[in-house]
Amino acid sequence: MKTIIRTIDQNNIEKAAIQEAGRILQEGGLVAFPTETVYGLGADALNEEAAVKTYEAKGRPSDNPLIVHIAEFSALPKIVEEIPPLAEALAEHFWPGPLTMIFKKRAVVPYGTTGGLDTVAVRMPENLIARELILAAGGYISAPSANVSGRPSPTTAEHVYTDLNGRISMILDGGSVEIGLESTILDMTVTPPMILRPGAITREMLATVLPYVAVDPSIHGEDRDTAPKAPGMKYRHYAPKAELIIVDGPAKLAVKAIRQIAYEHVSKGEVPGIIGTTETVGRYTHGIIKSIGTRNSEKSIARNLYAILRAFDEEGVSVIYSESFAAEGMGDAIMNRLEKAAGHHRVSAEEIVRMQKYHQIMFLSESDTSRGPMAAEILRNQTLNREYDIISRGLIVLFPEPVNQKAEAIMASHKLSMASYQSKMFDPDEIEADTLVLAMNMSQKQKVMSECGIEENIYTLSEFVQEEEQIGHPIGQPLSEYGKCFETIERLIKKLTQKLNEL
Ligand code: TXA
Ligand code: MG
Repeated sequence: MKTIIRTIDQNNIEKAAIQEAGRILQEGGLVAFPTETVYGLGADALNEEAAVKTYEAKGRPSDNPLIVHIAEFSALPKIVEEIPPLAEALAEHFWPGPLTMIFKKRAVVPYGTTGGLDTVAVRMPENLIARELILAAGGYISAPSANVSGRPSPTTAEHVYTDLNGRISMILDGGSVEIGLESTILDMTVTPPMILRPGAITREMLATVLPYVAVDPSIHGEDRDTAPKAPGMKYRHYAPKAELIIVDGPAKLAVKAIRQIAYEHVSKGEVPGIIGTTETVGRYTHGIIKSIGTRNSEKSIARNLYAILRAFDEEGVSVIYSESFAAEGMGDAIMNRLEKAAGHHRVSAEEIVRMQKYHQIMFLSESDTSRGPMAAEILRNQTLNREYDIISRGLIVLFPEPVNQKAEAIMASHKLSMASYQSKMFDPDEIEADTLVLAMNMSQKQKVMSECGIEENIYTLSEFVQEEEQIGHPIGQPLSEYGKCFETIERLIKKLTQKLNEL
């Protein structure tokens, strides 16, 4: 089958394309179309054979019911037995929009559409292309997400094309969707109404209309023995090709943990994937790193989630580590999808971070223009078994200065360079419980200890590697003295490397 693609502008909908798509649906064919949540794979909801085709195209188990999409509230009574007053109130508030409600079905709705159930899920989308299409198709379109079963839901027409090209008649390309996660599903056949799938209409929002909202306990994998009430929620949906692991904990700790694990993979010659945020991506150095959005906007994270999982499939990584997000408001839906994609595989950032004593190594010198940056750069070039954030700071830095020219010349002769470095002033706030401070001499160490009250994990470099030799200050001396200084530091750093690798 050749799949036709029609580009449609939501603000200027071309009627002819909608009519053409509507005709295909009325004749029992399949058309993928945008909704505000994800792209749907449309079929005539009242036509049993069309439902069969939908399952075939998606490769979806036929016990997994489809959602019926309507464009007007007046279309509802024809397909459902009764409309509870609360459902009417909810429709008033949230339709059109990303809310699906489950009702007792009428006989006109074939069991093919409802996966053999006596209930039917109904939603009124807000997207204008979707609404026009529903009307053109006769008022009722069944539409699961337009992906091959088990793949992340499509948020662009390209995603649909990748999954379903050749298997469906048409794709209406209305650009990227707005929300990016499937609708909230609310079962109205039980009292109180129960959320079967979290989405953009959050529990808090529903609670403004409903006196009480229940939540299917299987949603967050709390009750793994009970099957979810929405049949589709039991499948390992949204599964990326790679193993996905969620790293639990506050962002700062998660970054440390992921850096630590990523480094281990890279040392073994493996390339891990990392899902970070605008705020954290700059903190990662190893692996294939992608930003899912900003922590300031859950919406941005929801919108990018599926696209990022698909993008990792293209990268061919075998494992992906993701930061986790607060499961509040829309974060609930984000974490639900992420957990499903991960098959509920979560690890604790804190436990991982605890396994490594130091994460940051700070070299402390006077001006941070020669010995400190030299030591830092030499250490960065050693083979370390673990990853460290290696920095250098000076006790007297009035303004940022480049590295001393002689120091740089010596570094260059050893194929190292700190040419773009600018000296930085020591700030006690940068020292954390897992920072190792290594001063060039005893007086720097003592100054920091007495003035900043720092007592632990602070040594002179020589002391830490159990040597007597002090590192002299070559400033104002000939190049050869810088050379000697380099050699001393290099020797000590090699011992340091050994010591760190034995920790
Ligand atoms: O946002 C959405 O809802 C998208 C767009 C296209 O509208 N559609 C969507 O459909 O996500 P789908 O098929 O991927 O997911 C439908 C979910 C499945 O988990 C299914 O088991 C559940 O709805 N469902 C459908 N009818 C149901 C019913 N009668 N009782 C319980 N769960 C039902
Ligand atoms: Mg789906």
